[in-house]
Amino acid sequence: MNSSVLDRIIFLRAEIDKHNQHYYVLDAPLISDAEFDQLFRELQHLETQYPELQSPDSPTQRIGAAPLKSFAEVVHRTPMLSLQNALSEDEACAFDTRMVQALGDAEVEYAVEPKFDGLAISLTYEQGVFKQGATRGDGSVGEDVTQNLRTVRTIPLRLRRNIPFIEVRGEVLMMKRDFAELNRQQGESGEKLFVNPRNAAAGSLRQLDSRITAQRHLSFFAYAVHAEDHMAGAVTGETLPTTHAAQMTFLHELGFPVPLERRVVKGIQGLLTYYHEIGAQRHSLPYDIDGVVYKVNAIARQEHLGFVSRAPRFAIAHKFPAEEALTTVLDIEIQVGRTGALTPVARLAPVFVGGVTVTNATLHNEDELRRKDIRIGDTVSVRRAGDVIPEVVRVLLEKRPPDTREFVMPQQCPVCGGQVSKQADEATLSPCGILRCSSGLYCPAQRSGAVLHFASRRALNIEGLGDKIVEQLVELKMVHTPADLYNLSLKKLAALERMGEKSASNLLGAIERSKSTTLARLIYALGIRNVGEATAKELARHYATLDNFMQADSESLQAVSDIGPIVAQSIVSFLSEPHNREVIAQLRSAGLTLSPCGAWPEKESAEQAQGISLDMPLRGKTFVLTGTLSGMSREEAKAKLEALGARVSGSVSQKTDYLVAGVEAGSKLTKARELNVQVLDEQQLLQFFHM
Ligand code: IVH
Repeated sequence: MNSSVLDRIIFLRAEIDKHNQHYYVLDAPLISDAEFDQLFRELQHLETQYPELQSPDSPTQRIGAAPLKSFAEVVHRTPMLSLQNALSEDEACAFDTRMVQALGDAEVEYAVEPKFDGLAISLTYEQGVFKQGATRGDGSVGEDVTQNLRTVRTIPLRLRRNIPFIEVRGEVLMMKRDFAELNRQQGESGEKLFVNPRNAAAGSLRQLDSRITAQRHLSFFAYAVHAEDHMAGAVTGETLPTTHAAQMTFLHELGFPVPLERRVVKGIQGLLTYYHEIGAQRHSLPYDIDGVVYKVNAIARQEHLGFVSRAPRFAIAHKFPAEEALTTVLDIEIQVGRTGALTPVARLAPVFVGGVTVTNATLHNEDELRRKDIRIGDTVSVRRAGDVIPEVVRVLLEKRPPDTREFVMPQQCPVCGGQVSKQADEATLSPCGILRCSSGLYCPAQRSGAVLHFASRRALNIEGLGDKIVEQLVELKMVHTPADLYNLSLKKLAALERMGEKSASNLLGAIERSKSTTLARLIYALGIRNVGEATAKELARHYATLDNFMQADSESLQAVSDIGPIVAQSIVSFLSEPHNREVIAQLRSAGLTLSPCGAWPEKESAEQAQGISLDMPLRGKTFVLTGTLSGMSREEAKAKLEALGARVSGSVSQKTDYLVAGVEAGSKLTKARELNVQVLDEQQLLQFFHM
């Protein structure tokens, strides 16, 4: 055998291992992908040429091997146990009290870490070389998934030291970004999507063909190692550190990934602070977790405490409220939003999820309802993450009873009986799937929104008519449409909450003054979908009188500069709704005087000139985007947010309302946390786009 070939092979393996470690574990690559590929190919080439030099710990073994017929059984040297759970702070306190009493310490020291939402595995190494990997199975006997685990880039095939024997336990999981990418590929090739990263990880780990596992990008985090005379793992010829925290550092030094978020804390206060700290970070972590784990730090004290049935007494998992739960759909109803959007809403059998009892979940729109095939009577999985509106994730088809009912979207607005239509989205020109009521001025569901918009500064500019007053006016049935504003008396206004005689009289004056306005302002004030200030001005210029405008048809509208078929359609459907025409007639009889065209007195910003319509639910909100988003580029996300009226800024400040943190968010995320800015993950961002 050529000894220089062997030297080269050994060198290449070590180099590739080092670069794998820097790339996958430390997230800090030292060389380019192309340079890495070159090293890898050279090694593959040499190993094919000299098969006698092949070795199971070679990084070339990570690409998978021939499929197995079935998995062999592995009897665990020591059983793989589970953890006791604490489902509330009280239960966490009770755990600490038990520890204090059993150990006689005034304050117990704990090692704390995230509770990964993946699958437990056990790894054995002989002379520093990975020998066998097994699933937990029933705790005593698991399955031999060595071939599959070899493909997991963050599991070392060779340790940094030649320890004679060591058993390490930890969790196999799929990072959120790898999950998103996998589902994107699945969708593209028409394959079934995975429900969550845990299911994707489980499906990938249990592949008989490890070449498939190799393509799935699983990750691993270690959380336990024990000496031979211990219950949960083994090391021989090596003295282990005497605290859990030091053992984790030891594992890290051997080349295992361990959670960055691990800490050592003291007493119940330390435990609860950690619980809240990690809870707040939960959605911006790169992997799913379902709680945190508290472990008595000193190994001697762990041994003293021992076990209860199938779980250690010295540790507990403090769970976060589950974000997904199963329930049944009792009914599906339509909710009409302030902008006229008809949203199907599932009425659910009450279920505790995400820390609250949920009885309704949004189904977003008809397309979503059809795509998920949700029927009345179905068992569904409901998700509520953070402050986000609960939503139905999927139907459990295997639980569908024979008598489910399909829901049909109404032909008319269920609130006012007005026409409904599906309009295309102006920005993308594609049908946006949202059914809308076109009686914007009349529909009770849209009343306050319509009146507020009508009175806004750039519409009829009624100073002093804010949302609190409008809400009262609508609530007390004093105002049904903007035209009713002109029938208000001093006495009626003065009777409102927080309204003195003086403010009532000021408001009445402002209402009176608003009668003298321009046609452009009035058109804008009507709140027609897709008609902003600039379009309203063009319309006023073109039609010159309200009468002419009210006669407009699609063809004549498209002759107006900048008006295309979609805006024309919005105007036609608004004007063809008799309720809207009635309100316009009432406005006219209220005595509005309209100068035919006329400029806005204020200087316009570019943003205002583009027109702001009622359908800008994120108006006034400032967003900052950071990190990598998996489903879209940051530019796309920015454009979409801006289309909803949001401002997207480059840096986090007191004025930031939301920070959207993608994967690997850095200093902006830290700053946002310092300033108590609400942090959203990509899934929560998508909720805005479904509004
Ligand atoms: S320690 C005796 N630490 O939770 C068990 N487990 O119910 C020692 N898990 O199946 C486990 N994150 O897979 C430990 N940081 C962590 C963990 C963790 C997740 C899982 C583990 C086990 C389950 C226990």
